[in-house]
Amino acid sequence: MKKILLLNGPSLGLLGTREPAIYGRTTLAEIVAMVKDAAAARGAEVTAIQSDVEGELAAAILGARGAYDGIILNPAAYTHESVALHDAIAASEVPTVEVHLSNVYAREGYRHESLTAPSCVGQICGFGPKGYLLALEALLG
Ligand code: DQA
Repeated sequence: MKKILLLNGPSLGLLGTREPAIYGRTTLAEIVAMVKDAAAARGAEVTAIQSDVEGELAAAILGARGAYDGIILNPAAYTHESVALHDAIAASEVPTVEVHLSNVYAREGYRHESLTAPSCVGQICGFGPKGYLLALEALLG
């Protein structure tokens, strides 16, 4: 059975009520349930973690090494600033797909650069919660 780690970064715990015009009204719990159901239908298992703390996200990514077959990662604001997460993804050697609910390239200039995407196998953004399912599909092949 393939094991997928679903990781969400800072402020994503407030999805559903956080800036709904940008991020929509779907809660993180609903997204997690959706990804778990889709994975179960494909015979895969998902572990979900949300943290507002960069070091906890890095530790989760590093802990996935040799233990998970793929990571679905929304690093949130750390996308645009975290060398630590870039390095953790590379060090983990676990295929990682970066997901953003919003189209970061249609937003403020400081969101146009992702420090984490270069160590990922790919990036999906702008499709709302569906992006997580697309990432799962990409990882399960
Ligand atoms: C986000 C985009 C980031 O720029 C932002 O800091 C977030 C959420 C997204 O899912 O659209 O917190 O990752």
